[in-house]
Amino acid sequence: MQQKILILDFGSQTTQLIGRRVRELDTFCEIVPYNKFPKDDKSIIGVILSGSPFSVYDKESFKIDLDEIRGKYPILGICYGAQFISYTLGGNVEPAGSREYGRQNLGFIDKSNKLFKGFDDNSQVWMSHGDTITKIPQGFKVIASTESVENAAYYSEKDNIWGVQFHPEVFHSLQGTLLLKNFVVDICGGKQDWSAASFIDTTVAELKSQLGNDKVVLGLSGGVDSSVAAVLLNKAIGKNLTCIFVNNGLLRKNEFTDVLRDYECLGLNVIGVDASEKFYSELAGVEEPEKKRKIIGKGFVDVFNAEAKKIKDVKWLGQGTIYPDRIESLNITGKTIKSHHNVGGLPKDMQLQLCEPLRWLFKDEVRRVGRQLGMPEHLIKRHPFPGPGLGVRILGDITPEKVRVLQDADDIFIRGLKEWKTKDANGNEVSLYDQVWQAGVILLPVKSVGVMGDERTYERAVALRAVTSADAMTADWAHLPYEFLAKVSNDIINKVKGVNRVAYDISSKPPATIEWE
Ligand code: XMP
Repeated sequence: MQQKILILDFGSQTTQLIGRRVRELDTFCEIVPYNKFPKDDKSIIGVILSGSPFSVYDKESFKIDLDEIRGKYPILGICYGAQFISYTLGGNVEPAGSREYGRQNLGFIDKSNKLFKGFDDNSQVWMSHGDTITKIPQGFKVIASTESVENAAYYSEKDNIWGVQFHPEVFHSLQGTLLLKNFVVDICGGKQDWSAASFIDTTVAELKSQLGNDKVVLGLSGGVDSSVAAVLLNKAIGKNLTCIFVNNGLLRKNEFTDVLRDYECLGLNVIGVDASEKFYSELAGVEEPEKKRKIIGKGFVDVFNAEAKKIKDVKWLGQGTIYPDRIESLNITGKTIKSHHNVGGLPKDMQLQLCEPLRWLFKDEVRRVGRQLGMPEHLIKRHPFPGPGLGVRILGDITPEKVRVLQDADDIFIRGLKEWKTKDANGNEVSLYDQVWQAGVILLPVKSVGVMGDERTYERAVALRAVTSADAMTADWAHLPYEFLAKVSNDIINKVKGVNRVAYDISSKPPATIEWE
């Protein structure tokens, strides 16, 4: 049985990060809402209680019956998790004199405690809390302090409980990964056997037994998730998987043919449908972004369904849904809300069941699995690309001519990013493309005056957008070298007919967004 660390989510923004850190230790973990502890799950080897936006004294704060887990598993409380345990078992929690926030150093560390094995003196940690533990419960022991936080970490031998008021999961806690490793491996006995190879073996075996001889249909987008899901399913059921790749006329230059060829090289049974004309005619004259999105979304479903219905006896819909899309998130009232599944518009008469082989993976794990499956690096490292494609990068109405102009400009920018080499933080040679999260060109709905030779021109302006990000929730504009920007600008203006001006977008998200529409 696959061992598992269970993370109880009390609503902190960093709960997912705890999950990712545990997975980086090659240990499987699951994040569940604080009130959904799976009592009968025999695979749990330890429990982590996350932080929370609440104080333990808030009326609406999230509470659990600690006795359900106390003494049964090793427990690690983080921030609110530590305060909640302390408060519940008879300690004191009070508002901190001043909000305890930012980098601090552990001036006292009990290095004989398993949690701090291998720690350096004065190890830096990250604090972020309004309340603080002023007294720990009877029988508990303080195992680390900072100058201003006396009970920075505690331990109860009898209960097998550890609590830390700092956040080991964030980057600024410099030995946070070591602390989590000490908990997961030394204290809970994690075997560190969750790897891409083991995931592939177990998932392929599961898919074989789940699907038997059933047929599966899957929509490919060209992105990493759907591609890896397809290759995994192909490994399990071969020709019983049919993939559908739709050209909505809003893909990047040559993308339809290039990606289709990649898929065929991977041995996938794939149908490419070029529906560009349908999309262009339905989009003609439409300017409003949400309306464009709806038309493109519905158009995809129509084309996909028409193709899927041609396959006889198909029983399953394969999807590249990944773990962060599925984690039940808590809203502030404590009710759990599920992130929506993108299955809207499926024909009811087909009655397809959902098959989501990547449902337990974080994005970086999907990439690891893709590599292990032997997929080409350019597919794995592909930037995210919005479903409506260039449709939300042509501001205003869409015409085939505008798509052509944007595809040409975008192609120069993206190829340039791939060709321009630089060094990463470790001195390794990488391309600019690999250093940014996402990039593209936006076609602006304005014309500007220029001069070419002796001629006055009056042509389109485009904006370049390139951002760095960890998850697209926040993003910064990429600080691309001036020389690179100058070259791209020259190339676009010289080579793309109809463009005479290039701007670079230097807005961060928030308050801007990554896409312009
Ligand atoms: P924003 O513009 O909201 O984008 O900062 C965040 C991420 O989402 C992508 N994006 C979309 N993806 N359908 C998609 O599948 C959409 O309608 C859509 N709009 C934005 C965007 O490219 C970025 O990665």
